[in-house]
Amino acid sequence: MRIEAFLTPSELTGLAGRNLREKVCVVFDVLRATSTFATALNNGAAGIIPVGEISEALELKKQRPDVLLGGERNGLKIHVNGRDFDFGNSPREYAPEKVRGRTIVSATTNGTRAVRACMGAGTVIASSFLNLSATSNFLLERKFESVLLVCAGTGERAALEDILAAGALCATLAPHGTAPATTSQSHASTTLSDSAQLALAAFKQGQADLSGTIFNSENARRLLGIPELREDVEFCLRRDVYEFVAALKEGAIRSVG
Ligand code: MLT
Repeated sequence: MRIEAFLTPSELTGLAGRNLREKVCVVFDVLRATSTFATALNNGAAGIIPVGEISEALELKKQRPDVLLGGERNGLKIHVNGRDFDFGNSPREYAPEKVRGRTIVSATTNGTRAVRACMGAGTVIASSFLNLSATSNFLLERKFESVLLVCAGTGERAALEDILAAGALCATLAPHGTAPATTSQSHASTTLSDSAQLALAAFKQGQADLSGTIFNSENARRLLGIPELREDVEFCLRRDVYEFVAALKEGAIRSVG
């Protein structure tokens, strides 16, 4: 298995020209998009359709009045044409009684755009701390050869929490780091690109107090400063509370396995 990592949003532009059919892309937007997707699915949502622009969400709503609209701009619920979206991007809003059986169209600043940028890949997974082990087991069981970890980031900047989650996944896939170039055994020959090794090193450095480290991140500090969103940070950092994988199928992120 070869693992690469995109640590900043600006690297996503390079995906357009690449043949991704043999790749599996694993997108992390820990605070909060991919954590919210996992929570909505856990609570019974049929799927989440990721869009880049608010206008795309409104157009889909016109075509499919049954869908619900979610997402954020500047972390807050989108308000457009005199109306609020049904949900913001707090996972705690996506209660079972609101989402059960429903399809949600989501437009967030980075997370949905990162998923969309990966749509040419053979497999696209939206992962988080909430379902990290399920993601790792999925990758190992299916013996994917080429894995691209995509850290969605914040605006144009890297997001520490996404890189730490990518590093945590690397730690489960390649606990001993990258195999020496001379390694011949198939399993032990998991190789990490330099950027994946950076993510792994960051995780190993921060894992003793992962929550404390992430609470100091830019995104966490922003959310902690908004009273109604403050609890999202702790909620998104819970490890392995969901046992399914969130993967893109027929244009929507759905629960797999
Ligand atoms: C994003 O998708 O950019 C983030 O999740 C933004 C947020 O939830 O505040």
